[in-house]
Amino acid sequence: MTDFEPLLEAARAVAARAYVPYSHYPVGAAGLVDDGRIVRGCNVENAGYGVTLCAECGMISELMASGGGKIRAFVCVNRLGEVIMPCGRCRQLLAEHAASDFTILTPKGEANLDEVLPQSFGPADLDAAAPEA
Ligand code: THU
Repeated sequence: MTDFEPLLEAARAVAARAYVPYSHYPVGAAGLVDDGRIVRGCNVENAGYGVTLCAECGMISELMASGGGKIRAFVCVNRLGEVIMPCGRCRQLLAEHAASDFTILTPKGEANLDEVLPQSFGPADLDAAAPEA
């Protein structure tokens, strides 16, 4: 069992920084990187609604900006600090940067990547149909 407490604490703290004048639905996301650091993000909305950045986008940006690596454990929370599922787009975002032992805390308990994003599209799909050089 993964200890999600430090990630829950980080996600709940950063949710308070969300910029959500339109939905009033703050989200905080936190990930444990394979070198032990914790990266996090909050959602940032925009008057052009479709421009909104999910909390996971900020977290992955921090992952790369702070040195890269792979995410080993992840959680996201709502305003009440309750665990929520990442949206479909953000599951794809997480898949790109997930460690082989990636685990996510969901409202139904801990799960692996294949359980939350079955038959995911990835780099192997690109390679399989790559044009001849
Ligand atoms: N949101 C996230 O930040 N991450 C998710 O995985 C689900 C949705 C945000 C986007 C928007 O600012 C608000 O929650 C309501 O959809």
